[in-house]
Amino acid sequence: MGTITRSGAVRKPNETMRLIITTFIGVVFGFLVGISFPTISLSKLNFPSSLLPSIDLSYIEDKNSGLSTQTFLHRAWSSVKGNRSSPSHSQNLNDTSKLWVPTNPRGAERLPPGIVEAESDFYLRRLWGKPSEDLTIKPKYLVTFTVGYDQKANIDAAVKKFSENFSILLFHYDGRTSEWDEFEWSKRAIHVSVRKQTKWWYAKRFLHPDIVAAYDYIFIWDEDLGVEHFNAEEYIKLVRKHGLEISQPGLEPNRGLTWQMTKRRGDREVHKETEERPGWCSDPHLPPCAAFVEIMATVFSRDAWRCVWYMIQNDLVHGWGLDFALRRCVDPAHEKIGVVDSQWIVHQTVPSLGNQGEAKEGKAPWEGVRERCRKEWTMFQGRLAQADKTYLMEMGIEPPNSTAR
Ligand SMILES: *[C@@H]1O[C@H](CO)[C@@H](O)[C@H](O)[C@H]1NC(C)=O
Ligand SMILES: *[C@@H]1O[C@H](CO)[C@@H](O)[C@H](O)[C@H]1NC(C)=O
Ligand SMILES: *[C@@H]1O[C@H](CO)[C@@H](O)[C@H](O)[C@H]1NC(C)=O
Ligand SMILES: *[C@@H]1O[C@H](CO)[C@@H](O)[C@H](O)[C@H]1NC(C)=O
Repeated sequence: MGTITRSGAVRKPNETMRLIITTFIGVVFGFLVGISFPTISLSKLNFPSSLLPSIDLSYIEDKNSGLSTQTFLHRAWSSVKGNRSSPSHSQNLNDTSKLWVPTNPRGAERLPPGIVEAESDFYLRRLWGKPSEDLTIKPKYLVTFTVGYDQKANIDAAVKKFSENFSILLFHYDGRTSEWDEFEWSKRAIHVSVRKQTKWWYAKRFLHPDIVAAYDYIFIWDEDLGVEHFNAEEYIKLVRKHGLEISQPGLEPNRGLTWQMTKRRGDREVHKETEERPGWCSDPHLPPCAAFVEIMATVFSRDAWRCVWYMIQNDLVHGWGLDFALRRCVDPAHEKIGVVDSQWIVHQTVPSLGNQGEAKEGKAPWEGVRERCRKEWTMFQGRLAQADKTYLMEMGIEPPNSTAR
């Protein structure tokens, strides 16, 4: 691919001739420069020796037609030498090999900060044209669904609720991806296919905060949600207005399984924890403490997600217990965690992932999954309590009795 773009796939004959000549001049010039600086060893300079041949002469020429190849090469050479063009400074040429920038991301300290791209996005680009003109729109929000093809109707309806301001990312747990191409939107979506994993497994692997840094809000949603009464742009507006860092649409259960907290209130825009049961989470002995969201349609702000991602355990794939720990990531939690009532969804409770379990010892697949969920919950709570204790002890602080469960 690189070769094609570099040499220019569509080039007129006289341009080709010009390119050959400029390349030739360039090579000769490079050679002359080379012999006029005999003390410079390429390996010492610590840049790839292929630098000169790979310089995109044609592109440079197109961009700055006034700039001759020689000038360009000379500039490139000067910049490699650390900006000094006078030959009298040639003994200082080893600058770049000494480069060490501690403020760069870990592992990238040898690079000049200007070239470091620490963050990324899911924007689709073209293979041709100017990179700066690839994107007509840069979506500010990301929506992910963990899906099986059986739920295609539901997902189709859901995705259509999200405008071009949203990047769409599907995690396929059943290995079926090409079938989705029957939907027009599927072509602009990102598809990640890994069999029989949970949404927290995918999120941990594919939604690193640096990868999704372009997005103000990140929706991590299940596949079995009815979105008839949901408007994504309105939702974002409300979340901003009320300063919610972690939120979820109000839930209208069609099978009465919903926690009080996430249940939709018909009479308001949003509700937060405080209005429900003041301090309800300060007492760890209340069993469903801060089971804030049945984490099925959570929306995280960029900052909240950066924290939550770090808390997701690689092996505890069901994420049970995460809901009560989310509040660790925002401060004050009772102000920044909430339910958006006026944009609400219906939970259809399709036992999708449960069916991906394994029948064993006469038990149904979902039973094994349920059992593991419970176990993970205990393990997660144990780890968190232990981590708190260890940290506090290291800091020489007596752990308060209430957290030592
Ligand atoms: C490099 O060149 C730029 C502009 O030509 C100048 O501002 C800068 O001070 C130079 N840096 C060094 C290290 O000479
Ligand atoms: C270049 O390298 C030599 C030997 O490694 C060192 O003595 C000298 O200080 C270096 N010069 C600069 C400008 O870093
Ligand atoms: C997308 O975002 C822009 C800028 O925030 C807004 O003007 C536009 O209305 C949004 N598109 C839709 C479909 O809401
Ligand atoms: C914690 O418990 C111990 C023993 O049960 C008790 O002596 C101590 O006063 C308690 N500390 C606090 C802060 O409640």
